[in-house]
Amino acid sequence: MIAYPHIIAHRCGGALAPENSLAGLTIAARLGCRAVEFDVMLSADGVPLLIHDETLERTTTGRGRVAEMTLAEIRRFDAGGLHHPAFAVAPAPTFSEAMAECRRLSLWPNIEIKPATGHDESTGETVARWLGEHWNGTGVISSFSEKSALAARRVLPQFPQALLVEQLPDDWQAQLERRGAIALHLAAEYLTPRQAAALNDAGVIWAAYTVNDHATGARLFGLGASAVFTDRPDLWSPAEM
Ligand code: G3P
Ligand code: MG
Repeated sequence: MIAYPHIIAHRCGGALAPENSLAGLTIAARLGCRAVEFDVMLSADGVPLLIHDETLERTTTGRGRVAEMTLAEIRRFDAGGLHHPAFAVAPAPTFSEAMAECRRLSLWPNIEIKPATGHDESTGETVARWLGEHWNGTGVISSFSEKSALAARRVLPQFPQALLVEQLPDDWQAQLERRGAIALHLAAEYLTPRQAAALNDAGVIWAAYTVNDHATGARLFGLGASAVFTDRPDLWSPAEM
């Protein structure tokens, strides 16, 4: 059975640094975090990079759709300064750069495959191919897109995957099996104690997002969570991570 770190810096710890940034990885590691989560999407020329939205506007100085721009075009924009001028100027990191930082900082990555609409399979395949060629460390793949997850599994069947959902579906056991998933990631806000008990009874490792206060984290650990995702890893001590 795989051991999950307790505290996973969500979007690299996106309240303390720009979300999905290399700076976020550095700060998470300095705080004592052992695990991070980030979102991976493909540029128009097929390069995986860290970004959450299908469009550039919210997190960068650019405009337009990630899937319609080349990596070089996307990286002309700043993905740091909108969070705080202290983080300007930094382009959105490539997946490869983020993984190199995870290796350097000994961070366990939860790679969330976040395909732009219509790019589910290519995104899953590209991420898995990269991992197969360049990564011999640990980590876990997740995706809301079953197509992406299954495409990644076809390319790299041995890499651990987690089923990622908002609300626990009735057929969660069947979905876990179909994905070959070793864990389940779900939204804390919808989880009921009864559902948590069912997951625990089935021996499922589960982790809840996004938890930005310590008391809610403690409640979830009390319900049996293996880990919580947080934008605020500074709320936990290194010993708790
Ligand atoms: O992977 C957990 C969580 O990140 C899923 O939601 O929208 O923040 O990517 P989102
Ligand atoms: Mg995510």
